[in-house]
Amino acid sequence: MKALPGTQQIAAERSAIIGEVIDGPPSPARDRLRVLTGDRPTGDLHIGHYLSSLKNRVTLQDKGIESFVLVADYQVITDRDGVGAIQDNVRSVVTDYLAAGMDPTRSTIFTHSAISELNQLMLPFLSLVTDAELRRNPTVKDELAATDGRPLSGLLLTYPVHQAADILFCHANVVPVGLDQLPHLEQTRVIARRFNRRYADGHQVFPEPDALITSLPTVLGLDGAKMSKSRGNTIPLRASADETVALVRKARTDTDRRITFDRERRPEVANLLTVGAAFLGTSPESLASEIGDAGGAELKRRVASAVNDALAEHRRRRLELEADPAYVDQVLRAGNERARVVAVRTLETVRSVMGMTY
Ligand code: TRP
Repeated sequence: MKALPGTQQIAAERSAIIGEVIDGPPSPARDRLRVLTGDRPTGDLHIGHYLSSLKNRVTLQDKGIESFVLVADYQVITDRDGVGAIQDNVRSVVTDYLAAGMDPTRSTIFTHSAISELNQLMLPFLSLVTDAELRRNPTVKDELAATDGRPLSGLLLTYPVHQAADILFCHANVVPVGLDQLPHLEQTRVIARRFNRRYADGHQVFPEPDALITSLPTVLGLDGAKMSKSRGNTIPLRASADETVALVRKARTDTDRRITFDRERRPEVANLLTVGAAFLGTSPESLASEIGDAGGAELKRRVASAVNDALAEHRRRRLELEADPAYVDQVLRAGNERARVVAVRTLETVRSVMGMTY
């Protein structure tokens, strides 16, 4: 593993300790964990989400760890002009959560926009950060750069603070994230610390959450660029088996018939091998040597069937759920109710420690 700089290194060490608690036998330390995760509902979830987070969330839930799962609808408008097909997108995300095995009686699935009290936390939290801090945030900078010259909106600049409200409203102490989200988690820790010191006389109103760093290999899109819903270079979970075959067939490869795993010189082939191996539960190297001289077409055939086999059950459940949209809506309403109860209580505490009870 390559050396990580300061805060990242420390976060990685804390993450490893929490990983041990989670993977160990049931314990009081494990019972104290509360996990929050979230997705921006900008489109359908895809195989990248499945590999890097959905499966992991279900594992945590099934170990009995309390889980909050946020469909971050206000975060959709950080970097674009409209909400898009927000209703459909939210429903699609919730449908994939359920198809993946999230149990709505154990995991609280909710949306930003339904929880006023969560959003109100943004106000005291904004008082705890400076504009210089926000402008330095590497994730915000990257996301701004990805919008091709769009001016920085107030919401894009401050969404790390909103994300702190997502995490702190429910006193989550563990947040599974990729390395790209680590700056947000550090910002959340700073906000919790400053809130406790400035407004709560040093009392621990908010815990400082830890990252649980997911160390999966990055899966790229089928064109070799970053996988993203807006680029259309993904395999959506909702795609049928035939659509998956067609999507994989379009993926870029190279002209060398012999399949080898070489991230530097053959990034597109390496990416297909990574996807195939992840779904087969093997390593990209051994998948490459199995294919050997059979060429790109055979590689694609294997990747498509690996994805299709692994997702068959997910897709079967997804179709069932799609036939019952009222159930999906009801899951979200019930989750919002539960999240709201938690948020109301937290905001009451905040008002009370700040002396704002009238
Ligand atoms: N920003 C996250 C993403 O793009 C989604 C998200 C919103 C989130 N709020 C969160 C993740 C709070 C962790 C904690 O994937």
